[in-house]
Amino acid sequence: MTQIGSKPGNVLSGTIRVPGDKSISHRALMIGAAAVGQTRISGLLEADDVLRTAEAVRALGARIQQQNGNWLIEGVGPGGFVPPDGEIDLGNSGTAARLLLGLLATQEISVSITGDESLRSRPMGRVIDPLGLMGANFEAEEGDRMPLRLRGTGEPIPVEYLVPVPSAQVKSAVLLAALNTPGRTTVREREATRDHTENMLKSFGAAISVEDSGAGGRKISVDGFAELTAVNVDVPGDPSSAAFPGVAALLIPGSEITVENVGLNPLRAGLFDTLIDMGANIEIMNRRDSAGEAVGDIVFRFGALKGADIPANRAPSMIDEYPIAAIAAAFADGETRFRGLAELRVKESDRFAAIIDGLAACGVDVRADGDDIVICGDGTPPPGGAKIVVNLDHRIAMAFLVMGLAAEAPVTIDDAAAIETSFPCFIELMIGLGGKIV
Ligand code: S3P
Repeated sequence: MTQIGSKPGNVLSGTIRVPGDKSISHRALMIGAAAVGQTRISGLLEADDVLRTAEAVRALGARIQQQNGNWLIEGVGPGGFVPPDGEIDLGNSGTAARLLLGLLATQEISVSITGDESLRSRPMGRVIDPLGLMGANFEAEEGDRMPLRLRGTGEPIPVEYLVPVPSAQVKSAVLLAALNTPGRTTVREREATRDHTENMLKSFGAAISVEDSGAGGRKISVDGFAELTAVNVDVPGDPSSAAFPGVAALLIPGSEITVENVGLNPLRAGLFDTLIDMGANIEIMNRRDSAGEAVGDIVFRFGALKGADIPANRAPSMIDEYPIAAIAAAFADGETRFRGLAELRVKESDRFAAIIDGLAACGVDVRADGDDIVICGDGTPPPGGAKIVVNLDHRIAMAFLVMGLAAEAPVTIDDAAAIETSFPCFIELMIGLGGKIV
């Protein structure tokens, strides 16, 4: 494990782009692999999580080439995946695991999948339940954990399924399984979660409809066996990655940076709303549409932040951003309450605990209150000076490196390699903006 640390003292400035969106990259590879014809992907995130998905769909029969920075996927067509030679190892990626199980559940195929220690500890029951109702069979470890073996069904049953927790991965698993299922499969969610699967299935020609079902919920229906036709996919920059340099610039006096070409799908952009609620100086420019996804350039300027009460219904649109939002709250004047964070306990690590323990180690006044996290700052930089154990969690690693750039004393993390999961050039990019990371 490589220890690495960040030190305060330098102003950040410059214009950057961050790597491609992780969620969209996984989906482009999987849906491209299931389609007929050649899908051309530009801007694919070339980070460990997504490369695992690329390897998985290759092992299942899709042909993949890289050409001038683009990825070309020759799809297998309906029900055309072939059994892989051995076990599929999805590393750290919950999205790869849950979406792939959906994609394969309704085809007569047997597949064993596993992952790293973090992924093997994460709950898979949330996809095993609906995919089981559709006819797939699973053998999993205690508590529905991986490694697990899927036996997909050749006679799938359409279902109407209410997703019990707000989860785009569960929703997507059922929608992908529905592609190969006769009749109409319907997924309902009480709170809308990221809709990249729906957007991309539409652009590949799937028979999908999306309706608002009141109070922020949605009803999504897929009619099976529509042929998916390959298209070109332009992957925008990942807002979840832009968040780290962006918040660093908000916290370091004198800083101003621009992150260009960032995905601004409203179901992903909750962090920016939260930071604006906290008084952040953020400007979104050149709003445009890129292949069905909203995109823009974001300017982040240093300025005072104030505490805010962030409602639970904001969580789905910023679920991956709480580690970095919590760092921002530690620098704000007053109390910030992030409500309704139960899902953080089942991410790449227990992020609920990791945020509280990490901030406390940095001298921040932080506490849990049921499923809420409450952080009290006085508008000055917290002490910092901690060593953070990241437990294979890329976002905890990057969030606390940002803390060290702006706190009174440096912060170290025990495992820089975790960052490879989603943002391989993070350290170089931060150094390029002026940050001290060694
Ligand atoms: C993702 C959905 C979210 C998110 C994850 C990516 C996706 O997970 O945390 O990083 O691409 O669908 P949940 O579905 O578990 O909320």
